Amino acid sequence: MHVSLAICRDAKWQLVVLSVRNLFKTYRSAGEPISVLRGVDLDVASGERVALTGESGSGKSTLLHLIAGLDAADSGDIKLEGASIGALDDAERAALRRERLGLVFQQFNLVPSLSVSDNLSFQARLAGRHDPAWHAELVERLGLAAVLQRYPEQLSGGQQQRVAIGRALAVKPLLLLADEPTGNLDETTADEVMTLTGDLVRRTGCGFLMVTHSMRLSAMLDRQVTLHAGRVA
Ligand SMILES: Nc1ncnc2c1ncn2[C@@H]1O[C@H](COP(=O)(O)OP(=O)(O)O)[C@@H](O)[C@H]1O
Ligand SMILES: [Mg+2]
Repeated sequence: MHVSLAICRDAKWQLVVLSVRNLFKTYRSAGEPISVLRGVDLDVASGERVALTGESGSGKSTLLHLIAGLDAADSGDIKLEGASIGALDDAERAALRRERLGLVFQQFNLVPSLSVSDNLSFQARLAGRHDPAWHAELVERLGLAAVLQRYPEQLSGGQQQRVAIGRALAVKPLLLLADEPTGNLDETTADEVMTLTGDLVRRTGCGFLMVTHSMRLSAMLDRQVTLHAGRVA
């Protein structure tokens, strides 16, 4: 496995969970091809919280989709814990996404017909990774004990996003990917959700890669990287 020197030197970061090398992606759907990613390199270590910023249209969501295996790169390599996701077939990629990745988006994407408790646990149950003690700890740390039997429409935006983060972390993922997770929240609520998420990432020991527009939120994480002209600076 390739381990960057910067990470090796820092004893805090033990293990590179995500390694992206020379990643290229061009969209060819209609009209002129759009070359979005042009040689992206990026590492995220276990327990490390990385903010990904960049102008609108710079390819941030594209990069997260490729890492999550929701779309395929043209060339380059994405390794999770040293294993290339390009070498997996569709079923293996889906299993990896279900069992080893946590995904959080700006839209909370909760299941409206399920209670908060079931929203929190159903993905972990599907993945065969439901752990009652960890579920209880997430409920406690995310402040959701009083609303467990409610339905998503009965929650505030901040509560809904806390459920979505809890659901993503319930599987004890290797890597948590978040695309503007607080984009629908007011500043105070966004800060609260970020602080909780950062603490839980540390507790879980997973890597955390978060796309954000906000310099304030970005500064709350351990490292800031910017996507510009198709590359990470
Ligand atoms: N499925 C797609 N088909 C064609 N073009 C796309 C597609 N997804 C994104 N793009 C284009 O790729 C560029 C990067 O998009 P995106 O990754 O969403 O950027 P960001 O998240 O940084 O705003 C934009 O120009 C966008 O219009
Ligand atoms: Mg985006």
